[in-house]
Amino acid sequence: MCGIIAVTGVEDPLSTLLEGLELLEYRGYDSAGIALVTGEGDEAGLFRLRSAVRAQSIAELARLGAGAPRGRAGLGHTRWATHGAPTEENAHPHLDCTGRVAVVHNGIIENHRELAAKLDAAGHRRTSATDSEVVAHLVEAELETGADLLEAVRRSAAVLRGDYALAISYAGEPDTLVATRRTSPLIIGRTERAGVVASDIAAVLGTTRELYALGDGEIAVVRPGSLEVVDAAGEPVEPSPLRVAWGVQAARRDGYEDFMSKEIHEQPRALADTLLERVLPEGTTELEELAAFEDELRRVERVVVVACGSSFHAGEIGRLALERWAKLPATAEIASEFRYREPVLDDRTLVVAISQSGETVDTYHALAEAARRGARTMAITNVVDSLMAREADAVIYTRAGPEIGVASTKCHVAQIILFQVFALHLARLRGSLGEDELARLAREIEALPGLVAEALGRSDEYAAVAARLAEVNDVFFLGRNVGYPVALEGALKLKELAYVRAEAYAAGEMKHGPISLIDRHAVAVVVANRGALWPKLLANIEEIKARGATVVAVTDEGDEETGRLADHVLEVPATDELLAPVVSVVPLQVLAYSVAKARGNDVDRPRNLAKVVTVE
Ligand code: AGP
Repeated sequence: MCGIIAVTGVEDPLSTLLEGLELLEYRGYDSAGIALVTGEGDEAGLFRLRSAVRAQSIAELARLGAGAPRGRAGLGHTRWATHGAPTEENAHPHLDCTGRVAVVHNGIIENHRELAAKLDAAGHRRTSATDSEVVAHLVEAELETGADLLEAVRRSAAVLRGDYALAISYAGEPDTLVATRRTSPLIIGRTERAGVVASDIAAVLGTTRELYALGDGEIAVVRPGSLEVVDAAGEPVEPSPLRVAWGVQAARRDGYEDFMSKEIHEQPRALADTLLERVLPEGTTELEELAAFEDELRRVERVVVVACGSSFHAGEIGRLALERWAKLPATAEIASEFRYREPVLDDRTLVVAISQSGETVDTYHALAEAARRGARTMAITNVVDSLMAREADAVIYTRAGPEIGVASTKCHVAQIILFQVFALHLARLRGSLGEDELARLAREIEALPGLVAEALGRSDEYAAVAARLAEVNDVFFLGRNVGYPVALEGALKLKELAYVRAEAYAAGEMKHGPISLIDRHAVAVVVANRGALWPKLLANIEEIKARGATVVAVTDEGDEETGRLADHVLEVPATDELLAPVVSVVPLQVLAYSVAKARGNDVDRPRNLAKVVTVE
């Protein structure tokens, strides 16, 4: 996700934009840019500055802006790349051919390729690899018909597909900003003499607290001291006022107490964005980034996933989907172990590195070692042009937006779902699944963001169970097949957030030793979705109950049989057995978060941990 701010009528537009971008930087920090509308009448023009110095771009803009003209209105943007590398050319604001229209965008324009082709054919000269730039040229084309900025934006928005939040300025209407959105958030606001547009409240709280939420499809005309909102048909609408009870810092978290709870609740959006353009209406899947890699994929005879931590758990889940759907031998290995075990590889082996940051040194070196030993390599990462994205033969990106909390949540589920789409993609290439089954699974995958949202609706229930465990210091997590890596992830979350000793075991392994630890003080969390192995999980629960332990079961909604056996249940919506982890991990995230908060821990920065582990 990216951060947008636009201002008009303020004393010093450049300073206001830069201050706002500082508060939006958590939304993305690959690059940043500003555009100022300067001058009067026919002399009016746009002054633009952009920088792609990762995480330093805004400071660079301030340095470059020292000699900038004052300006009357302006746009600012901080970017989290989804289409086009994080370079200066791809940084926003984007301009049209005349250099008199500037656009900043947050979201993904799904039909940007077809729009770009039409614009190119009409003689427009694009200068970036982004989806966003097409909007500047669409608006330019409409302005050339004599439309004013509002009408030009209204017509342009009507041809866009996907999700977007847009702010546009035009030298021909120097004090006017026009903004519109679909799905991606956008707010507008005013004072007696100014007007503002922003991705979220934090960016403009220093200018005004008179703020309004722009509705889906609505278009706002923001001028100094005035706001006018119309619907997609151009009919006036009343914007809905925002009650702002936060200070600036809290506003960066959209009102959530911490980034971790914000990111847990962003999971449906992160999943939906990761699936955009990749799961098609008829239920098939598309991975456009792999088009040039397809011949190699057809030749693959074995897959090895290398990753660490939560990314390793995602890989353990994904490799089961590869085996079941693509009929490919697949394993997942801890990167720091894989690297030194002298793996036997060849060009029929695909080594897939999963890494949210794309910078984890253990995983990076495992990937490099695989390439040295002749394997083909692919990265699944959340950071465009990260170290691993550049090192691998191919890369597919999760689109979860920046994950600030050290404990991975939205990126973890986005990794799982993207790997599942990849597994279906390979199944189609290898002809290992029929069209009906491919379409069924693609539709089930497409439904997952909604199921995760339903599970999040049960957060209070999950927190109530956590309250019963707040004093516990020793917890078992058990699961079978895809439930086992979910158990691993649940144990990791409780360890890294609540500092509770938590161990995960394959449930079938308990009788081979660990069950000796079970007594009436023990607590076991069992991932018991109703898959093929569910009866065996019931037997495991009974074994544990017989020894006096407390059992918390993750169950499919309405599974009364498991509910009768367990002491507490964490119900989730049911889905296909191999897709269940995307939903089943949610209560375990909330459990760990709740126990950690009860213990007064800093959930965004847990002790001893770093968000990116760049040491061995
Ligand atoms: C997960 O909550 C932890 N923050 C950690 O295990 C993390 O998943 C691991 O360090 C891998 O990071 P990466 O995905 O950026 O490679």
